Amino acid sequence: MLKQILFKFITIKSQEYIFSSKFNCMKYNLLYIIPAFILISCTNTSTDDLTDNEPITELVTYNMDIAPIIQNQCTQCHNTTSPSGGLVLENYDDVRMSTETGSLIDRITRNIGDPLIMPQNGQLPPTSINLITQWQTDGYLEN
Ligand code: HEC
Repeated sequence: MLKQILFKFITIKSQEYIFSSKFNCMKYNLLYIIPAFILISCTNTSTDDLTDNEPITELVTYNMDIAPIIQNQCTQCHNTTSPSGGLVLENYDDVRMSTETGSLIDRITRNIGDPLIMPQNGQLPPTSINLITQWQTDGYLEN
């Protein structure tokens, strides 16, 4: 009888132990998993690509450099007839406004695989991203 009670006690305790150690182990893992995940999602490979690029020496203008990129890669979706996400990118003012608010550059500098990356089918070539950021730095020249 005493043996049975002792046995039962040990079984319950060991179950408790297994449960709690599993639980602690999970908590312990989370301590590493969460920061690792944050680190991974903050790593921006596109900025690394940018520094490898040749510097832009000429002044960047909307008509010469930016309009062709936007017309090739963006206006099939961002036009007045059916503006995806409510965004029109058909002329200087449209593109300048979206660049000034930061949302255009935010979307084109996202990593491949990010659901918010623009254009939707993948990243712009680094040269195009460079031109757009340089255009912003140069003060949004039109011609
Ligand atoms: C195949 C269609 C498609 C193409 C091409 C495309 N977009 Fe988009 N874009 C969308 C859709 C759909 C949304 C709305 C959903 C979302 O926010 O992701 C959107 C949203 C956006 C937004 C956020 C909305 C806002 O008002 O700020 C920006 C900025 C943007 N696109 C910029 C661009 C730029 C720049 C290009 C070209 C380099 C581009 N898009 C190419 C479909 C497209």
